[in-house]
Amino acid sequence: QELQLNLEQIEKGGCDHFMLKEIYEQPEAIRDTYRGRLRVDDGIIKMAGMEDNLEKFLQADRILIAACGTSWHAGLVAEYIFEDLARIPVEVEYASEFRYRNPVITERDVLIVISQSGETADTLAAIKLAREKGAFVFGVCNVVGSSIAREAHAGAYTHAGPEIGVASTKAFTTQITVLTLMALKLASAKGAISRTELQQHLAEMEAIPGKVEASLTSDSHIKYIASLYKEAPNCLYLGRGYNFPVALEGALKLKEISYIHAEGYPAAEMKHGPIALIDEQMPVVIIATKNGHYDKVVSNIQEIKSRKGKIIAVVMEGDTTVKELADHVIEVPETTEALSPLITTIPLQLLSYHIAVMRGCNVDQPRNLAKSVTVE
Ligand code: AGP
Repeated sequence: QELQLNLEQIEKGGCDHFMLKEIYEQPEAIRDTYRGRLRVDDGIIKMAGMEDNLEKFLQADRILIAACGTSWHAGLVAEYIFEDLARIPVEVEYASEFRYRNPVITERDVLIVISQSGETADTLAAIKLAREKGAFVFGVCNVVGSSIAREAHAGAYTHAGPEIGVASTKAFTTQITVLTLMALKLASAKGAISRTELQQHLAEMEAIPGKVEASLTSDSHIKYIASLYKEAPNCLYLGRGYNFPVALEGALKLKEISYIHAEGYPAAEMKHGPIALIDEQMPVVIIATKNGHYDKVVSNIQEIKSRKGKIIAVVMEGDTTVKELADHVIEVPETTEALSPLITTIPLQLLSYHIAVMRGCNVDQPRNLAKSVTVE
């Protein structure tokens, strides 16, 4: 019994839960995922699965993305990156909806499927449907040799290492890492970005692990905030632009491990209804980083504050404006807008983790959930 406990402790790297270990593994997981795939000085991205099929991407009418849960959120981030940088139309679909809605798919479509486990039934079904219609399917998976990796025509692995916690953390950030490299490779191949711009993006990608490390140092501050809101019945997560999908992901993390009802929304959408929810009982987590429509987010914060909402803001280091308005701020290092999801998601992972632990929830195996949904 004691030996078993010690073995578990070793497996968890000394952390109380696999989820916390995996949150802290993200700098290394992101580094392992881009290692060997980028050379800043030469302005080169090496991804065999892309190189062997570059024409299919370049000639595609559009890129479809199908996934579930957190992987679907990674797909939403990819939509912003691919369209903003590579100027290729992207449509993101829940795999479970895509497979049944009789979608229009042609052989001029590329479908990217994203899956940590590589065994999600709905995502596998999306591949089958797209292949029947002649589309090219590219898989982004974390498990080598998984069904989705085998069913796709080509792909690129994330190198997150085994993710044991049911709540996906390092899989999300490594998926975004792969998808960002894919978008940059296409943008460069299309001439949509210059070699210098590519080198700048790659140099910033190499700085991300250190910035994730820096974001993790807010852990004890975030734990304190968690102690104040662990009994909240509901929570709103708001973001704009690249950080809107991060708001959705933050809400999903809180829901699935602490069982608190949480919703993610585009910050500007509040005035179209959800702001009616705001009162002093409603904590609002808002991503207010400088590089994403900052002034508009500040006015969203003011709207919430005037209705007595409690505001937890993720801000860039040194921000003073939001600090005056929010009840709590969590500072993260500055990065580019395109790479900000890799940083802004970190405090949201820690916030949900600490709230769940304080609520006595089974963080690594939340009720009703499985690590891989291999059935419909
Ligand atoms: C996210 O924290 C959940 N574990 C769940 O939404 C998961 O992302 C989803 O089931 C998809 O799993 P996959 O990435 O293995 O396909």
